[in-house]
Amino acid sequence: CATKTYDFEVSWVSANPDGLQERSVIGINGQWPLPTLNVTKGDQVVINVKNSLGNESTSLHFHGLYQNGTTHMDGPTQVTQCAIIPGSSFTYNFTVDQPGTYWYHSHVRGQYPDGLRGAFIVHDPEDPHKDLYDEEIVLTFSDWYHDHMPDLLASFISIANPSGAEPVPDSALVNETQNLSVKIEPGRRYKFRIINMGAFAAQYVWFEDHTMQVVEVDGIYTEPADAEMIYVTVAQRWSVIVTAKNDTNANFAFIGSMDQDLFDTVPDGLNPNVTGWLVYDDTKEKPVPKEIDSFEPFDDFSLVPQDKEKLYDHVDHQIQLDMKMDNLDDGANYAFFNDQTYVSPKVPTLYTVLSTGSNATNPEVYGSHTNQFVLDHNQVVEIVLNNDDPGKHPFHLHGHVFQVVHRSDDDAGFYDASNHSAFPETPMRRDTILVRPNGNIVLRFRSDNPGVWLFHCHIEWHVASGLIATIIEAPLDIQKQLSGKIPQDHQQACKAGNVMME
Ligand code: C2O
Repeated sequence: CATKTYDFEVSWVSANPDGLQERSVIGINGQWPLPTLNVTKGDQVVINVKNSLGNESTSLHFHGLYQNGTTHMDGPTQVTQCAIIPGSSFTYNFTVDQPGTYWYHSHVRGQYPDGLRGAFIVHDPEDPHKDLYDEEIVLTFSDWYHDHMPDLLASFISIANPSGAEPVPDSALVNETQNLSVKIEPGRRYKFRIINMGAFAAQYVWFEDHTMQVVEVDGIYTEPADAEMIYVTVAQRWSVIVTAKNDTNANFAFIGSMDQDLFDTVPDGLNPNVTGWLVYDDTKEKPVPKEIDSFEPFDDFSLVPQDKEKLYDHVDHQIQLDMKMDNLDDGANYAFFNDQTYVSPKVPTLYTVLSTGSNATNPEVYGSHTNQFVLDHNQVVEIVLNNDDPGKHPFHLHGHVFQVVHRSDDDAGFYDASNHSAFPETPMRRDTILVRPNGNIVLRFRSDNPGVWLFHCHIEWHVASGLIATIIEAPLDIQKQLSGKIPQDHQQACKAGNVMME
């Protein structure tokens, strides 16, 4: 195993990824799109961040990494750290013990859609599927806004938008462009690591005249499963193997198409699609994609994990989250779990764990607006989420994957524990899962990773409107691991931002 060190200076640079509007975006070392980080399972990763944005604080989250023993390196501000204010530096340092497809992004309110998002790949010398492909290629899909997030957020959460209509993206991108050609050799087998790094829109993804074989979701190897089209919510990752044709007679399009059901209104002239090309012969034309009249994506609930981990068949601790969108007294629209909208605490929740001794197991020490749940160590935890909203929501849990034991159709209403379809014997696991409109999901995981972990909708608008819960997992074990061990620069970040760590 190696130590991989990166120096990241975060600053504004100029870009025009859809060819329609030049704007400032958040780059690293003067570049945007951001670098893909390639590490190997077992590596130690050190990332020195210097914030040269001038006008915004920042942080980095490594989406999907368990951060076992290093919850203070997880990245969400006011949860596991204070924000890195302009002009200051901060080092992330952790060991990666899980293979798969991940990504990194800012975890400061609303920031990553302005550009601070990149792929994070953990290579596996023992990949069980390594004989199934010859080469791998990363494809990041995303949505793109011409306006800056702070401006969009100000009008999104305001009395002028009482219905909470989310800003609609201006375009879709693949690898942060609308002009991507992938050179293909006949007969070769490609593993595409597909990541949705968008703010809002899930994308339907398909390759014309080529079948995909799904082999990984969110870092979990699956038994290979054929799919013609997949539905990738924001923050999800899917690895698919595509076998090239044996001749070079034609080139083929692949498409990402934003799910317009998410949009309250579809603006005139919006192109919901981004097209890339599998180029077998660059002297031949690139085809115009065929129109399709219905979207019938593969159902990820049918996936079987390669390790066939069994369903946790008893539950020690249940968390029920009833979510809805509603107005508060200021006339703006917010999101709620159990009638409570999340408000960032002044002191990062992790530091409250570290400063409250045996009281850390008492949920009340975490304030009244963090939607907090305290878990004992090593229990089977079940999250029942009831979506009392007509929208689709991709939910993400930090620090874990969960077994997806149940997912209802649209309009099923609240989960009924006495009347549901049989749970799968070997449920698929992932870290980000779609909940259908007015539907429900049931997730299970083991609380074997002491830390402070967010559970939230990954639509960045809904993060801002408070659709967040805080899981405080085994707080006394966190104290044992981390008391007296929080690095100096973390304490510095709080002082600089005038937050007392206590
Ligand atoms: Cu990509 Cu809080 O997560």
